[in-house]
Amino acid sequence: MPKTGSTAAPPAKKKGATDGNGAAAAKGSSKPAGAPSSDGSTLDIKDNRNNKSYTVPIVDCAIRATELKKIKTDDPNDSGLVSYDPAFLNTASCRSAITYIDGDKGILRYRGYPIEQLAEKASFLEVAWLLRKGELPTQDEYDKFVHDVTWHTYVHENFRKFLEGFRYDAHPMAMLNSGIAALASFYPTSRNIFDERERDISMVRLLAKTPTIAAFSYRHVKGMPFVYPDNRLSYVENFLSMINRMSESKYEPNPTFVRALEILFILHADHEQNCSTSAVRGVGSSHVDPFSAMSAGVAALFGPLHGGANEQVLRMITEIGNVKNVPKFIESVKSGEGGRLMGFGHRVYKSYDPRAKIVKKLADDVFKIVGVDRDLEIALELERIALSDDYFTQRKLYPNVDFYTGLIYRSMGFPTDFFTVLFAIARMSGWLAQWEEMLLDKEQKISRPRQIYIGPKERPYSTKLNRKSASAG
Ligand code: CMC
Repeated sequence: MPKTGSTAAPPAKKKGATDGNGAAAAKGSSKPAGAPSSDGSTLDIKDNRNNKSYTVPIVDCAIRATELKKIKTDDPNDSGLVSYDPAFLNTASCRSAITYIDGDKGILRYRGYPIEQLAEKASFLEVAWLLRKGELPTQDEYDKFVHDVTWHTYVHENFRKFLEGFRYDAHPMAMLNSGIAALASFYPTSRNIFDERERDISMVRLLAKTPTIAAFSYRHVKGMPFVYPDNRLSYVENFLSMINRMSESKYEPNPTFVRALEILFILHADHEQNCSTSAVRGVGSSHVDPFSAMSAGVAALFGPLHGGANEQVLRMITEIGNVKNVPKFIESVKSGEGGRLMGFGHRVYKSYDPRAKIVKKLADDVFKIVGVDRDLEIALELERIALSDDYFTQRKLYPNVDFYTGLIYRSMGFPTDFFTVLFAIARMSGWLAQWEEMLLDKEQKISRPRQIYIGPKERPYSTKLNRKSASAG
């Protein structure tokens, strides 16, 4: 029996091991994923303070930041150089075999499979399996996985009371975040994160219960009774049933909506080391249970610069109000007065986000069923002007995945503040795969960045009468 409430010891580290669960081959490398890639190249660094030289190995097109620690002056108190990289603009925090992005070429692949092929042919649960296991499931594996996820969709009845405690206008992302964290209290053995069976069941539970908690949050805000999972339905159908079902004995969702949501879930499933995934890996690196680690991901995703952008795009478009106001709005963005053009720009993509291309086409399919969204014209005009304006082209700002998703979600009847929840349901699959990869990576330790201290030097404690107020100019 696994121990309850205590963390089993991590597997012993192999000395000198650099490879965990496999790693992405360095850009341009033909080596198989997992093997550190080096042709023996090195980087020479000369410290002009004392004329000392250092030779640093280049592996996977990277140098180890810890090599910089060796670069010291003759001062015995010097602890060596650190690299300073606020917001991780150019720092790799792990070697990963899960998702590959080439931001200049607009390429996205999960475990080597192009996103376009997965979006066209795969189901979301197939992709969730692929992300974790590294290979697409066989028919038997898939059937069992679907069965397991379907089996675990129910949440403990206490969840009713827990969610009923929220105000009628609670943001569903706040409810989802709390709900995912609360699951840790129902499954105390999940803290045995180095027990593979515990990880398996926790991961199945998280995939299975996230749509249920999301749908219960939706119904709570609407003041509608919760709808329990219907295990006869597929993952996406069941989610739509828990959202929409009223008095009918069996809910029959619109197949175009089902396929559209399935594709959107696939597109959002993983995106390598983004803000929420880094949050999951960072929090998970303390060896906390997976529910707590995943709730950190939900929290990070909530922000408007990340998953919350889909909600902000719709609010922005609503505020613009009319296609004739678009040029004025663009000018206000360029001058800095109007905030950012939400749904545009990306840290990694410096060309059209490949997901945005698929979403734009998907929007056409959905609009054929429900009619064209009233604000599509505004979105198209924003895109047209931005793509031909120097401000945006020089900064390589293109539509990202969130630019058109909001219009699709609205056409399907989802309220604006629910959009990011849909993103979170999908991203759960990626967070879980990344969390496990981090745990099994022998090189990973608790996340703990360095800082450059810029505060006061040591000074004596002063009495209240002699203090200068921090708010004094
Ligand atoms: N509208 C106007 N200007 C922008 C935008 C934008 N959406 N994005 C970046 N810029 C400008 C920015 O002001 C800066 O200009 P300058 O060099 O003159 O100071 C330059 O472009 C570079 O911006 P940055 O902030 O250094 O870029 P970043 O890589 O740190 O930020 C981003 C990436 C996604 C946070 C940013 O582009 C943004 O805020 N976009 C809008 C929010 C959004 O759509 N987020 C969803 C991202 S995709 C879904 C996801 O995975 O989360």
